[in-house]
Amino acid sequence: MSLPSTYDFGKIDLELIHDDHQELERRLEAVRHAVAQDTTDGLIEALERLRDYALTHYGLEESMMMSSRYPHIREHARMHQRLLGILNRAIHRRRQTSDAPTRETVEGIEELHYLHVSTDDAQFGQWLSGKVV
Ligand SMILES: [Fe+2]
Ligand SMILES: [Fe+2]
Repeated sequence: MSLPSTYDFGKIDLELIHDDHQELERRLEAVRHAVAQDTTDGLIEALERLRDYALTHYGLEESMMMSSRYPHIREHARMHQRLLGILNRAIHRRRQTSDAPTRETVEGIEELHYLHVSTDDAQFGQWLSGKVV
């Protein structure tokens, strides 16, 4: 979703980000469950569902950042790329080999996700709050 440059931000935008984070948590939980079950199809599907939602969510955040002229967009987007890279590599590896992401890999993804939400996203949320009309 891309927003026009004159877009006026409202509370709904902050709620959208919050709702997205809850959905990402649900999909992370599904990945954790799939790792425990360890079926190739189920695991790839769960990872792809997480990656696809993350891609959409990151696009939304970056679009809001551009429209609000957020000064830290580059560093923030770099972290999005890093998270997507980890997910894409895990999907690729699982498709090409029988290597399933280990519980540690999934925990690493979760840790990075929660760190990003509690620091980078929180910082952007505060910035956006100042723009809310
Ligand atoms: Fe986020
Ligand atoms: Fe983010």
